[in-house]
Amino acid sequence: MTRELFIAECASDLAREAADRFAEAATRAIHRHGRFAVALSGGGTPRRLYSLLATPPYLTAIDWPRVHIFFADERFVPPDDPDSNLRLVQETLLDRVPIPSANIYPMPTQGAEPEASAARYAETLKAFFAESPPRFDLILLGMGPDGHTASLFPGRPDYPGSVAAVRDSPKPPPTRLTLTLATINRATQILFLVTGADKAGTLQAIFEGGKGGADLPAARVAAEGGTTVWLVDREAAAELAD
Ligand code: 6PG
Repeated sequence: MTRELFIAECASDLAREAADRFAEAATRAIHRHGRFAVALSGGGTPRRLYSLLATPPYLTAIDWPRVHIFFADERFVPPDDPDSNLRLVQETLLDRVPIPSANIYPMPTQGAEPEASAARYAETLKAFFAESPPRFDLILLGMGPDGHTASLFPGRPDYPGSVAAVRDSPKPPPTRLTLTLATINRATQILFLVTGADKAGTLQAIFEGGKGGADLPAARVAAEGGTTVWLVDREAAAELAD
């Protein structure tokens, strides 16, 4: 279990570094077991990365028909809602790369209660990963100023199983689905993308033992059998001592 911190000069350098690492992870996974299973996050930070992945060299370097796209979390809204993570990823990436629609696994947000939808997605993961518990090749995460990641928020219980329903999320919209911490930590590689001065204090607490830092959801993310890489920009790293 290793942790790396990479400080990029700016958001575009950060997106490029993330795209390079995404491509490397994809190549490694496809070489090793013929497919690349990645779970993506929503929010504003990864937009630039998703758009970049849809352009050369990534558009041609990544074997998209062998890529399988899952979600680290989803807002419980219709797929065409402006808040939908699926819509974000569809528009910035999936509509622009040669990935079969069968390789895209949205979190279900219609036709059932959140809890039933979470259970349904857990079944989807179980079927895809066969007998083993879900182990993603890569999970892409962001972090909120409060130290949340995916839709795991401070002060909430550890959820059982692989997918949970979250109600009353402090970050709107209020209802969401999320991979659980246990599932996230089983990934071979985890890549955080964190930008902006509003996250500097939280990053300092997580990396340098500030008050309460260790208990934050983002602090508890650690790829048990692999690497957790934090890609941050200078603004977010501003309060780190060294
Ligand atoms: C979501 C995200 C969430 C996000 C953080 C950071 O669906 O809201 O998964 O966890 O990654 O809130 O968001 P920004 O990248 O917009 O700062």
